[in-house]
Amino acid sequence: MLMSGDKVRLRLATPDDFPHIVSWGRDEKVAQDLEGDYPTTLEECAAWLQTIKSDRHALHYVIVSLHDDRPIGDIQLDHITWRSGDGELRIRIGERHLWDQGFGTDAVITLLRYAFLNMRLSCIYLRVFASNLRAIRCYEKAGFRKEGRLMRRTAEGQERETFLMSVRRADFLRTHSAKEGTQTA
Ligand SMILES: CC(C)(COP(=O)(O)OP(=O)(O)OC[C@H]1O[C@@H](n2cnc3c(N)ncnc32)[C@H](O)[C@@H]1OP(=O)(O)O)[C@@H](O)C(=O)NCCC(=O)NCCS
Repeated sequence: MLMSGDKVRLRLATPDDFPHIVSWGRDEKVAQDLEGDYPTTLEECAAWLQTIKSDRHALHYVIVSLHDDRPIGDIQLDHITWRSGDGELRIRIGERHLWDQGFGTDAVITLLRYAFLNMRLSCIYLRVFASNLRAIRCYEKAGFRKEGRLMRRTAEGQERETFLMSVRRADFLRTHSAKEGTQTA
């Protein structure tokens, strides 16, 4: 499966991607604002992707730069609830030198377009630490709005203010309807 935006395309992971995925998981600056388990060894990576692949409530794509066709990060839909039509988005641009160049926003918009136009989901939500201003800006540019605020305890026992953000299909399509969802098998 392949989806293209203006700056990136999203595709399924292959074993050639495993070293990249592992290096992103080991980068503390990338990991510091992420919740959840990301693999930090090749063995964990293979098992992690296999678990996602066998889960009908989850999807994982590698984000590839259209500029040089290199993998730069990954994006997921988790907790997909087919009946109510919602799912939770997670993203990381693992190549830090590429932050703030619009890759994250384009990847999010590309996945939302696929989720709303092809998967027919009706709402995508996410959780983001309130201190993660870069991510919040990226999500707002893609159409997400803050829905609520909660305090969450991290694995290290730290309390961190977190925003719940969401975007609904109709609102997204009002601003991003120009391009149809693109994908080839
Ligand atoms: C969050 C992330 C996915 C965003 O991707 P990205 O490619 O860097 O984002 P974009 O370039 O599309 O957008 C970032 C925006 O934030 C802005 N920004 C950067 N630092 C900022 C700050 N301290 N305050 C406010 N805005 C900031 C950028 O200027 C840019 O906005 P602009 O285009 O209007 O200038 C990426 O930085 C990342 O993977 N970070 C580490 C993992 C992470 O935090 N994931 C999200 C967890 S919820």
